[in-house]
Amino acid sequence: MSDNKRHVLIAPSILSADFGRLGHQVAEAEAAGADLIHVDVMDGHFVPNITVGPLVVRALRPVTHLPLQVHLMIEQPERYIDEFVRAGADAVIVHVETCPHLDRTLEQIREAGALPEVVLNPATPLVMIEEVLDQVESVLVMTVNPGFGGQKLIPSTLDKVRRLRRILDERGRRCRIEVDGGINLSTLREVVAAGADVLVMGAAIFEGEGDIATTIHRLRAAL
Ligand code: DX5
Ligand code: ZN
Repeated sequence: MSDNKRHVLIAPSILSADFGRLGHQVAEAEAAGADLIHVDVMDGHFVPNITVGPLVVRALRPVTHLPLQVHLMIEQPERYIDEFVRAGADAVIVHVETCPHLDRTLEQIREAGALPEVVLNPATPLVMIEEVLDQVESVLVMTVNPGFGGQKLIPSTLDKVRRLRRILDERGRRCRIEVDGGINLSTLREVVAAGADVLVMGAAIFEGEGDIATTIHRLRAAL
């Protein structure tokens, strides 16, 4: 566990933040030791919910020094990648389910100047991303069906994290495994044990009982 302790990153998802005080809450998360800020972009087509666009990324850019990672839950993500990077995205995460030309889309992200990442839904098999593992900095395994915060982690996704960790180890790839959905005090240890090294957390951080700082310290201590 001590090895994990050094490497596991905490990425608050602003989906569950108070948008009236978004800048303050992101600054609070940074001061409490968050490692990344995760921005969930939804279009009402790929997922049922609608959230934010590049404007919010642009507004957050001067508020924090932390890398902003933009999770695109939208159809035809290639139409918006450049705009999100211009707005300040450091990493762009695209769903394999929305990218028939995944290789090209990942290269587009890199050429735009951001780190390319790929994400899979719970029902999408790992084989869909095996050919692009050399092109990505990180693979995000959805641990819930995307679209909403505050859902329960789907247990079968833990095995997927384990299998992905094995594949990466076999290939000697240092690419990170990120998990998103239903991560909280009661689930974080098992996802880390399965091989995750970046934990996206929305409700656990922004809808916890105490303030954001106390909550992040408690989550960190539990790792
Ligand atoms: C879900 C989003 C997540 C969401 C996670 O579609 O991609 O980033 O904010 O929320 P929690 O941590 O509340 O499950
Ligand atoms: Zn997300």
